[in-house]
Amino acid sequence: MKRVALALVVLLAFLTQSLAQDQTPDRSATGGAQTLEDIMKRQRGEAVDYDFRRNATGDPDSAAAISSQLGTLGGVSDPELWRALRYGSADITVSSGGEEATVLMQDGGMRWLAWRKGPLATYGAWLLGATILLLALFYLLRGRIRIDGEKTGRTITRFKAIERFGHWLLAGSFVLLALTGLLTLFGRLAIIPLIGKDAFAPLALASKWIHNNVAWAFMLGLVMVFVMWVAHNIPNKTDLKWIAVGGGLLKKGVHPPAKKFNFGQKMIFWGVIVLGVSVSASGLSLLFPFEMPMFAATFEKLNALGIPQLIGLGTLPTALAPHEEMQYAQLWHAIVAFVMMAMILAHIYIGSIGMEGAYDAMGSGEVELQWAREHHGLWVKEVEEAERQAGTDAKNALPAE
Ligand code: HEM
Repeated sequence: MKRVALALVVLLAFLTQSLAQDQTPDRSATGGAQTLEDIMKRQRGEAVDYDFRRNATGDPDSAAAISSQLGTLGGVSDPELWRALRYGSADITVSSGGEEATVLMQDGGMRWLAWRKGPLATYGAWLLGATILLLALFYLLRGRIRIDGEKTGRTITRFKAIERFGHWLLAGSFVLLALTGLLTLFGRLAIIPLIGKDAFAPLALASKWIHNNVAWAFMLGLVMVFVMWVAHNIPNKTDLKWIAVGGGLLKKGVHPPAKKFNFGQKMIFWGVIVLGVSVSASGLSLLFPFEMPMFAATFEKLNALGIPQLIGLGTLPTALAPHEEMQYAQLWHAIVAFVMMAMILAHIYIGSIGMEGAYDAMGSGEVELQWAREHHGLWVKEVEEAERQAGTDAKNALPAE
């Protein structure tokens, strides 16, 4: 009996509390304006239903509307008008600028700022830090991947000058963009405390100039690399053999067959192309504010395909204010850039200290024949066959003695 009574008391307490929560708060003490409890709730990060403010914007056609309140001393303080401005429902006419110029205060800006300072910066830094740690660990465990066989002392041309130019245009611009991008995102947090605001200001300005202008070199490099190498990066059956032994990266002496590019390189290639196009598109959208909105249209297409619903994101918003478009562009640009940076860190590692003989391919363009046989055996055969063919053709073309 005692237990039943106790259960009833708990249930009653629970019901009273839920009912109290469902009730609209009593705002009579503030004349319907927000209360201390509203402010505290907001500061605790809890959701506050602001409809009571959003809708309290008066009747613009009434006799008491703002136009009739203007006098020689300016407008009378008009909370209803300010509320309408605050929630974007004021009727604003602008002499220049598009729809974006009519928005004076934008709520979503706070959400974007919190995202940029919070998860974006935190997870981005973690991703880069973890990638560097993993690469260091790989180096400690596996060491430098050496040329296993006897070196021949002969070389084979791996990349022509134009290919190396395209690669270094893309690589050089990417490194500059990554450094200046990181400075823009982390400057306030990591650099200002070290050198102060006065020293940071010219650095930030130069950084922005470099970032905005070097972007064009990156896009040109991207197009060059795509045109020159796409044919060599189409997946084929040989890739399965490479995948089956993990590219031979983990074990000494294991060398799966590969043509000009192996499967690992194909992943880098397509990663650079797809993410590079995406980072360029969102970058252009940021470079020409409000002129290239693309997220509402993309969200609409994704919703129609059912992808966001499938991964639990629900239906994505398709009516975005111009400012929201810019905020999504900034977040997406930075997310894609972080993923690219992590991928490129691994690429730089394997193309330099991680593998003996690899750098020469992009340095002088000439690689040790034994290196080429171990890492791109089928490609070496193709080149030798082509040379033999050219030799035979040249001989056949000689005039008969
Ligand atoms: C900055 C340091 C970098 C170094 C030392 C480096 C080195 C190399 C080397 C040696 C190769 C040829 C590999 C082979 O012979 O098979 C290569 C290829 C390539 N690089 Fe780089 N690279 C760097 C940066 C970049 C950057 C920043 C990008 C793109 C944003 C990039 C994109 C590529 C692509 C797409 C390939 C062809 C696919 C592959 O080999 O993975 N590289 N790189």
